[in-house]
Amino acid sequence: MPSPDDTPRPPLDDAAAWHVLAPLLGPYLPWSTGAMRPAGLVTVLNDVWFRTPELVLELGSGVSTVVVARLLRQLGTGRLLAVEHDESWAHRVQRQLDREGLADVAGVVRAPLRPHEGAWGDTHWYDEVALSTAVDEAGRPIEVLVVDGPPAWQPGAEHARYPALGSLAGRLAAGARIVLDDIERAGETDVLARWQREHPVVFDVDTAAGVAVGIWPVN
Ligand SMILES: C[S@@+](CC[C@H](N)C(=O)[O-])C[C@H]1O[C@@H](n2cnc3c(N)ncnc32)[C@H](O)[C@@H]1O
Repeated sequence: MPSPDDTPRPPLDDAAAWHVLAPLLGPYLPWSTGAMRPAGLVTVLNDVWFRTPELVLELGSGVSTVVVARLLRQLGTGRLLAVEHDESWAHRVQRQLDREGLADVAGVVRAPLRPHEGAWGDTHWYDEVALSTAVDEAGRPIEVLVVDGPPAWQPGAEHARYPALGSLAGRLAAGARIVLDDIERAGETDVLARWQREHPVVFDVDTAAGVAVGIWPVN
């Protein structure tokens, strides 16, 4: 798999990825089809391990949030903010972080979905004030951005993740890694094509992992 930089890519399918994840599979987590596939999550974890980022921003929280937080704890550096629109899901994910003593490395940012001027069609995006305030309070640029929200599987919401780059461009570090999940879906393929037309970033699509990975330009 070609890589836009020198970070090794895991040529893993999901079955192999479960073995790689084993050291981070601590207390029970409710894995479901809503979660990133194991091979996609390993891609994110490898980026975190190689870059030791000071700030990871994840759009769409879940079991991935807890697993990435476990790795940050193990590495002893870096912070994860996971943006979540659903209050009850945000509460559950934050409660699991608290249970595992991970609240100092990761936190859930509540950001309801709203109409947005940068949206594609009638889709909704995270509340801009909640999003930008959380990142600004972190006091550092985003070095790894994981785009796994808002939900985009419902008819009419297929392009809901499009505003991510426009909204966060000014808060991305030079060389930041951007991971878009669910790239096998037509909506995410459209979003990726439009991002590549509108921003100076080229993505590699890893079909085995179901993600596309890009690097934000240095200048
Ligand atoms: C694609 S999911 C995000 C999944 C997350 N990044 C992960 O890998 O676990 C997008 C949204 O679905 C919802 N969600 C995720 N997992 C869920 C679950 N197991 N049950 C209910 N809602 C879930 C949350 O609102 C989340 O923001």
